[in-house]
Amino acid sequence: MSATVPSGSSGDPSHHWFQHTVFYEVLVRGFFDANDDGTGDLAGLRAKLDYLQWLGIDCLWLLPFNPSPMRDGGYDVSDFFQVHPDYGTIGDLVALVEDAHRRGIRVIADLVINHTSDQHPWFVESRSSRTNPKADWYVWNDDDKRWPEARVVFADVERSNWTFDDTRKQYYWHRFYSHQPDLNYDNPEVAEAMLEVVRFWLDLGLDGFRLDAVPYLFQRDGTSGEHLPETHAYVRRIRKQLDAEYPGRILLAEANGWPADVADYFGTGDECHLCFHFPLMPRLFTAVRREQRYPVTEILSQTPEIPDGCQWAIFLRNHDELTLEQVTDEERDYLFAEYAKDPRMKRHMGIGRRLAPLLDGDRRLAELLYALLLSLPGSPVVYYGDEILMGDNIYLGDRDSVRTPMQWSPDRNGGFSRADFARLYLPPLMDPVYGYGAVNVEAQMRNPGSFLHWLRGMLVQRRSLPVLGVGRMEVLDCPNPSILAFVRSGEVLEASIAAVPSTGQEPAVPVSTGQEPAVPVSTGQEPAVPGHRSQAVLCVHNLSRFAQPALLDLAPWEGMRPVEVLGRVPFPAVGAEPYPLALGPYGYSWFELSASVEPLGAQEP
Ligand code: GLC
Repeated sequence: MSATVPSGSSGDPSHHWFQHTVFYEVLVRGFFDANDDGTGDLAGLRAKLDYLQWLGIDCLWLLPFNPSPMRDGGYDVSDFFQVHPDYGTIGDLVALVEDAHRRGIRVIADLVINHTSDQHPWFVESRSSRTNPKADWYVWNDDDKRWPEARVVFADVERSNWTFDDTRKQYYWHRFYSHQPDLNYDNPEVAEAMLEVVRFWLDLGLDGFRLDAVPYLFQRDGTSGEHLPETHAYVRRIRKQLDAEYPGRILLAEANGWPADVADYFGTGDECHLCFHFPLMPRLFTAVRREQRYPVTEILSQTPEIPDGCQWAIFLRNHDELTLEQVTDEERDYLFAEYAKDPRMKRHMGIGRRLAPLLDGDRRLAELLYALLLSLPGSPVVYYGDEILMGDNIYLGDRDSVRTPMQWSPDRNGGFSRADFARLYLPPLMDPVYGYGAVNVEAQMRNPGSFLHWLRGMLVQRRSLPVLGVGRMEVLDCPNPSILAFVRSGEVLEASIAAVPSTGQEPAVPVSTGQEPAVPVSTGQEPAVPGHRSQAVLCVHNLSRFAQPALLDLAPWEGMRPVEVLGRVPFPAVGAEPYPLALGPYGYSWFELSASVEPLGAQEP
């Protein structure tokens, strides 16, 4: 396996594993039920590691697994130091992490840092009086008038960020549901308590955290209460602890904002290792509906350079609604009109649907969007079930529409659980289009032409093109607005990137993909650093439902030969004129740019 050289960065390059990682976001509750009680659990997830290894993902991101009254999918934590009894024990978590590490798979988890459940003992104590030891662990006020500039995130269900507490006779502050009071980070005890939570899980072997709702940690008069300097200072404090005591573990920021604001969570390379690129996601959906590259290229042009040793995390769908917070009113109207034709599809400020139904089940579109996800700058995040193009259930409340059980087989309950149907945490899909009879892992594993096999093959290819991890990106000039073409280029290192860290057990085993990586293509350029070589990959995408011509300005690569990545098929060398290609409806191709200009026939199989 090759790895790119983190350009100019100091420190151990093995710690930059997250720049070359495909993440897999998994709902423990919804993945596999090992004890037949109707709810997925850690032992169930562990039992499916073979599948995840086969698929070729590099890191699991576990949605919250702490004890919780489950009024917000577990983002309402009632004990930060335990595992929800429905999911198993701390021992099960450790066993999962160790087994994953043995397979070369890392594991990160959500850290619900901003708030707790109102049933958390800290809040129960805090609300009990104005003088108890935890009285200032949450944000209290005598009236509900303070900080009017702070928007209400779930504006469709909450009227205010303040809720009156009858016992304490004061208002408490919450940026999300009223049952999720915000912690008071101005209190040093709170800041220290959350660092203790961080240490606790890292000591058990987790490889890092997604920092949930990180922009909201502090409140200040006259501000929106988002992205405040105090919040960044606290993130730096967590990072400092990781660098000092847990090198190689990562922080991933969930900060839904414009690229320039979000990029601040990288700091100068001293805050988060990764940040989700939220605004890119809706623009991918706009681009394929408008059949125009502009929405994507425009947001990329607004995306600042990020510090060395950092990375964007990019995604198509996740456990939340397809959020439309970071788009203009006009774009939002357009996306609602195109993708939420039934009002029941709307959730909060977005659309509560999965990838496949959003695309009307069009496999070509799903491939196109995944080809983009795997080649645009950033580490891709795959949402569980999307690898088999699972559907959703818009009749379920809140965001449960996209959190139904994983569909493993056509058996009872989709092979998810042997519990009685009535006991399942949510009903599996049973409709004729997306139900488990029609869409399931078993069938797709048996069918080499399935989307699952296609995606697995693409992950193999991506692994052989390390430049897709951190290479530069140049968007190519092309007169056809439906064509999105770019070149990813940079120097790559011919060595394995970091082995998964040991948690004191057997050494990590490299992931076997079952497929040989593609033979590297020489670009003929002298590497700037010994042991490295240059790599350049041309990625071309047709956003239109009709075949399209592409005339690409490849002047800087004149004389080189594009070699199609999947079949190693050599194409005519780049000449002085714009390079002509034809793409089928929603077509895409990746080419490695090679210095070899042997006659075409000589390279054909
Ligand atoms: C994040 C989570 C979302 C949750 C919210 C409040 O945005 O992704 O699911 O509801 O935080 O914790």
